[in-house]
Amino acid sequence: MPYTAAKDRYTKIPYKRCGKSGIKLPIISLGLWHNFGDVDVYENSRKMLLTAFDNGITHFDLANNYGPSPGSAEETFGKVMEKDLKPYRDHLIISSKAGYWMWDGPYGEWGSRKYLISSCDQSLKRMGLDYVDIFYHHRPDYETPLEESMMALDQIVRSGKALYAGISNYPADRTAEAAKIMRELGTPLLIHQPKYSMFERWIEPELISTLASVGMGAIVFSPLAQGLLTDKYIDGIPDNSRAAKSSGFLQVDEITEERINKVKALKEIAAERGQSIAQLAISWVLRHDEVTSALIGASKVEHVLELIRVQDKLEFTEDELIKIDEILK
Ligand SMILES: NC(=O)c1ccc[n+]([C@@H]2O[C@H](COP(=O)([O-])OP(=O)(O)OC[C@H]3O[C@@H](n4cnc5c(N)ncnc54)[C@H](OP(=O)(O)O)[C@@H]3O)[C@@H](O)[C@H]2O)c1
Repeated sequence: MPYTAAKDRYTKIPYKRCGKSGIKLPIISLGLWHNFGDVDVYENSRKMLLTAFDNGITHFDLANNYGPSPGSAEETFGKVMEKDLKPYRDHLIISSKAGYWMWDGPYGEWGSRKYLISSCDQSLKRMGLDYVDIFYHHRPDYETPLEESMMALDQIVRSGKALYAGISNYPADRTAEAAKIMRELGTPLLIHQPKYSMFERWIEPELISTLASVGMGAIVFSPLAQGLLTDKYIDGIPDNSRAAKSSGFLQVDEITEERINKVKALKEIAAERGQSIAQLAISWVLRHDEVTSALIGASKVEHVLELIRVQDKLEFTEDELIKIDEILK
């Protein structure tokens, strides 16, 4: 049966403006870092993508190295694009990135013009796309002049291979510098992709206000701390969870008793709000005006369906926020 997208999909989730730009993103976006590689079951990956789209998730986030094997998440996405999503290309915001290791030798990682432009070309081929909507520099590179990396992003946009440019994992000072260079070049940075969750609050002291002052939005990754901020690990490490997989990035030693005790305490607040822990964790990252979207991962369709419902309870009382801070201290 050919796929037809749900007609009511745009009624399912709110869309929020990304910084001072023309783009609105769904408050939940789906990333393909885990569970979309060639080691995973294609039909499950496909179902997650289509369920997400049917529920209003218009933004899918990739990178050159997502897999495993590196590049295979882009190939999986390319297959779903070709088979199912092609008629909807203008409804989608598709991103990719370059910055981490992708191929051997001096031109296969970091931030040179040589690497960024050739990696973008490779990503487009793997996904079978003419352009991505957002192309990111994936991590700061202090050995390459910032101007060189930014001029490469500017060229990628000007040559039509991407519509917008973004940066990821840049600290506040480097973000401000990058934003200034890109504004002068005439291709303002759209978005920053930092790690942010109840267990990782580094963006709060400086980055958020920097983003507001330069007019960029934020899409925050690993808002569930890779699954720790759910009830998944409360009674141990389940088979098939990210921590149990050899290809997973969540290490068993990150699942400490201290963290699990915090998760248990958060579960009580979540229950009082009528939410799961995962829903609480997502609503919490979205409480900042500057956070445009929570960039989630999933290993099954039910995860997407559960998280999409955060919109029912996005607001927090002062009292709830204080209690959460106390738990996280
Ligand atoms: N820019 C960067 O440097 C960077 C780095 C990392 C990630 N990212 C992006 O951010 C995206 C999300 O990262 P992430 O996968 O770490 O995000 P996450 O949302 O923190 O973790 C996703 C994992 O949480 C578990 N999960 C999700 N929903 C659940 C639910 N309702 N109940 C129970 N467990 C649930 C699943 O774990 P199981 O698989 O164990 O079931 C899922 O794989 C990535 O795909 C990528 O696009 C970017």
